[in-house]
Amino acid sequence: MKKLIAGNWKMNGLSADAYNLSMGIINGLKQSPQLGSACDFLICPPSIHIGLVQAFFNGQDVPVELGAQDCSEVEAGARTGEISPAMLSDIECSSVILGHSERRQFHDETDELVASKAALAHKNGLVAIICVGESDAEREAGQQNAVVEKQLLASLPEGTTAANTVIAYEPVWAIGTGKTATPEDVRQMHQFIREKLQEKLEDFAQVRILYGGSVKPSNAEELFRVPNVDGALIGGASLKADDYLGIASAALDIADAA
Ligand code: PGA
Repeated sequence: MKKLIAGNWKMNGLSADAYNLSMGIINGLKQSPQLGSACDFLICPPSIHIGLVQAFFNGQDVPVELGAQDCSEVEAGARTGEISPAMLSDIECSSVILGHSERRQFHDETDELVASKAALAHKNGLVAIICVGESDAEREAGQQNAVVEKQLLASLPEGTTAANTVIAYEPVWAIGTGKTATPEDVRQMHQFIREKLQEKLEDFAQVRILYGGSVKPSNAEELFRVPNVDGALIGGASLKADDYLGIASAALDIADAA
């Protein structure tokens, strides 16, 4: 399976930054077209910049898809400030991140809400990237598997398949902190997630499971070597074109060596 290199720009940068970052990625991919053989690329700018970024990539002939960082759980209407999955499909987004820990934490998103959003995203032809992960306290209490199992099973709607869903395991304590889970922690959790998917989905083996949490060029290779790590969801390092593409280079090195 090709690794998915997904950048989550979060709420960073103004339009000039979006331009510079996009051009950095475009130029880097033109210089290293072989990266596209090992990786699929997705970037998720702030929603107000998606259209701009799309215009920057338009006609550049580099294999990058665009996604959003969230969407509404209702089709349309009186939801001031929200963006519907149909609007995202309409501007040719392929994917939407759902249930990121920052949305669960700062916007009180529940598993049930994430499942509703994912169902509507699927209905509108979007791939839902569903985030799960335990907090520091939960890991210290040895509850990580129970927490992730509950989030995972309750956040996946009816109709979930490997084609319309990606799972991102992001331990909350590793997001933006510089702390990365050890390869052994990641191995255990990704295997556990795969087993749980097997209980629910026929095509469980094809579901991509991304790791997220302080992924950078220097740790990407050891993470990508872990079984069941099918790519990365990258926050901070996706804001620098060299780092974002450096992470992809790690996937290419592994593919070349195989
Ligand atoms: P980080 O963020 O790479 O900055 O830790 C990852 C994420 O929140 O998706």
